[in-house]
Amino acid sequence: MSYETLQDALNSSETLIFGHRGAMARAPMNTMASFELAMQQGADGIELDVHLSRDGQLVVIHDDSVDATSDGQGKVTDMTLDQLKRLDAGAWYSDEFAGQRIPTLDEVFDAFGDGMFINVEIKSSRETVDRLEKRLAECLRRHNMRERVIVSCFDPVILRRAEQAMHKVLMGFLYAPNMPAAHNLLLKEFRHEARHPLHVMVDEGYMKWARAQGYYVNVWTVNDPERARQLKRLGVNTIMTDDPASIISALSKC
Ligand code: G3P
Ligand code: MG
Repeated sequence: MSYETLQDALNSSETLIFGHRGAMARAPMNTMASFELAMQQGADGIELDVHLSRDGQLVVIHDDSVDATSDGQGKVTDMTLDQLKRLDAGAWYSDEFAGQRIPTLDEVFDAFGDGMFINVEIKSSRETVDRLEKRLAECLRRHNMRERVIVSCFDPVILRRAEQAMHKVLMGFLYAPNMPAAHNLLLKEFRHEARHPLHVMVDEGYMKWARAQGYYVNVWTVNDPERARQLKRLGVNTIMTDDPASIISALSKC
């Protein structure tokens, strides 16, 4: 993928492949090892999840607690970066990955910002998001990543605040069929260039509607090669998958 900006890549006729939480089918999610593997497999980008630590650092982890993906216990927002960094974020997955740490977003941008596009999914609550969005805006500026990321969130209130803090950064609204109806009204109130539907929501009718509205369509999470081929034919912009190698191989044959 030779595009310098994510917008140019999304404007192309290619179907981008983003590794969901890296390459989580074969490595512990949201670790440097998982992102490295996604890059080696040829992913155009990665999707990752961010929370704020107690001392205001952007850390890459899916849940709001460390329990499921580390050898520690507790809420991310109650722990400092120093405490989070002491945890092992790989051994729960397999011995091969023992010693992996919870990455900061700075570390991910340093290591992978040039090589891949990045979908930053905001996972924080409405209480902490004011601080998070400011940190994220600073972090994107510091790493010159504003044109290489898309910021997404399931909560339109949070995404609206992010949009206000990050002019010109691409925004994507995340949703699934169980989205509360009230969200539709909120979505009319702020700029977002992309829709990120659960892939089962997407068919020809959906694509017609999204194109008429001017949205890019970035779907998650697709691990079935045949479904990936259908979505490519439907013309989605991005497929997020736990297993980039398998989906890249499937799409090379259609
Ligand atoms: O961004 C797509 C996907 O990651 C949303 O769900 O729970 O895997 O973060 P989740
Ligand atoms: Mg996510």
